[in-house]
Formats: sequence, structure tokens, C-alpha cells
Amino acid sequence: MADVVVQHPDLAGKSVLITGGATGIGAALTAAFAAQGARVFFIDIADDPGRELAAKLSRSSPHPVTFLHADLRQVAETRAAVDEAARAAGSLSVLVNNAGWDDRHDVDTVSEAYWDESQAINLKQMFFASQAALPHLRKAPGASIVNFSSISYLLNMGDLPAYATAKAGIVGLTKSLAGRLGPEGIRVNAILPGMIVTERQKRLWLTDTGIAEIVGRQCLKRTLTAEDVVGPCLFLASEAAAGMTAQTMIIDGGLL
Ligand SMILES: NC(=O)c1ccc[n+]([C@@H]2O[C@H](COP(=O)([O-])OP(=O)(O)OC[C@H]3O[C@@H](n4cnc5c(N)ncnc54)[C@H](O)[C@@H]3O)[C@@H](O)[C@H]2O)c1
Repeated sequence: MADVVVQHPDLAGKSVLITGGATGIGAALTAAFAAQGARVFFIDIADDPGRELAAKLSRSSPHPVTFLHADLRQVAETRAAVDEAARAAGSLSVLVNNAGWDDRHDVDTVSEAYWDESQAINLKQMFFASQAALPHLRKAPGASIVNFSSISYLLNMGDLPAYATAKAGIVGLTKSLAGRLGPEGIRVNAILPGMIVTERQKRLWLTDTGIAEIVGRQCLKRTLTAEDVVGPCLFLASEAAAGMTAQTMIIDGGLL
């Protein structure tokens, strides 16, 4: 995938908060918003990658990029990090709810604790991060939220019922928040990635055979990478999408 070249001049100087921005898709989003000239803050639980990414991007971006440690499963920590970002930036225009935890599990063995854990990191935190960001977003003209769902819940995949439930819930959350916040001028949309090949995905789930099988079912016969979801996310966060809310964008190379 070629580097993203589309510039959204309205994003320059805007304050953007990205959850799970230290690694994977989130790291690509952090870099891309910084390259747009946005003032980027990102929350993550992964300290070393977070600090390293912030330092690296701060050297090459128009504004310093700030890493904030928080465990998004803890609502109080989430609120504190969101408020810290907004306080440091003086405003908050964009929230990208990217963090998630893709894990495989079996219907016969999922415990109550596992289920709650999965919902806490995959769904609940998106609501509370949005709630915490709202007082700040309300003060920013043209504010928006982009939530990361997944096409997995549309594929009848049997090995991730808790994750799929959360990812389906994110679409409901997106539409409900869009309805509630549209009258206030805040847009809320969702991105549903297909198979995005990241280091973590390769380490845990993806084999060469598995990747080839999915690519074979896609219209586009190449693997998608984090860069492929960057452009759509920048677009949704920008004024180019000023008339779009309550929508879902599928980025899967035409798998569905
Ligand atoms: N990679 C894919 O193929 C794919 C496909 C569909 C949807 N998605 C979705 O896109 C988003 C990003 O995907 P990814 O593959 O980069 O995910 P990832 O698991 O590689 O990265 C998620 C980030 O969230 C952070 N994180 C996890 N738990 C946290 C917590 N409790 N508190 C704070 N931060 C935490 C991680 O440290 C990591 O930096 C996720 O919402 C995922 O569900 C990814």
C-alpha cells in the first residue's frame, strides 16, 4: 500500500485523541494524524511502544505527540487520561476509539469473568471514552468520533463470540451516539476493517495459508495493512465527511 498522500487541511492544528494508539492500526493512525499537522494524544496500556512512538513522531511532526498511559478497562483511568489530553491541548476535536482485544475463545469454555473482560476492553470502554470526551468535543466546532468495529461479526466466525458481540455492539453504539449528538453537530461513524495484517495478528492468528485463503476471497488480491484503514479514518474525522454520521465503512478489500 502506498503512503497516504491525501491531506485534509482542516485537521491541521486540531486536537485528536486515539485509544490504543501505540501499536498496530492505532500506531499507523497516530502517525497519520500527526503527519496531517494535528495535535495528537494517544492512550495505551503498552508503555514502551507508547513512549517510543511518541518520541519518534515528536521529532518529525509539526506538534509534539503525547502518549498517555491508561488501562481503558478502568473508567476512572480513562476519564483522567481524556481530561489530561483535553487540558493539555485546550480542546478536543476528534476521538478515535481504536483500542480492542482480539482473542479466540470457545462457546463451551468462556467463563463469566472472560466474557466481562472481553466486553470491558472491546465495548464498554468505547462508551466511557466517548462520554469522557463529550464535554470537550462539545466545545469544538465540527467534532467527531470514529469507532473501530470489525467485519468479523458479519462472517459467522465461530471462534470469537464475545469479540463479535462487542464489535456488533459498537455499530449500535455508533448509531445511538450519532442520533443523540447529531443535533449538537458531533458526528459519530464506525470503521469495520477486514483482515488487516499487523505484527500482532501474524504472531497470534495469521498463517501464510490463512492469509492467502482470505486474500483469495477478497476482490483485491493483496493483503491489507494498517495503512489501508488510515485514509478512511482521516476522511471520517475531517470536514470532507461533514455530512456523514451514523455510518459504517467496511475496509476489507471486497471480502464481503
Ligand atoms: N487487525 C485486524 O485485522 C482488525 C480487523 C478488524 C477490526 N480490527 C479492530 O481495529 C482496532 C485495532 O486493531 P489492531 O489489530 O491494531 O489491534 P491490536 O490488538 O494490535 O492493538 C490494540 C491496541 O490497544 C491497546 N490496548 C489493549 N488493551 C488495552 C487497555 N486495556 N487499555 C489501553 N490500551 C489497550 C494495545 O496495547 C494496542 O496498542 C481494534 O479495535 C480491532 O478490533 C482489527
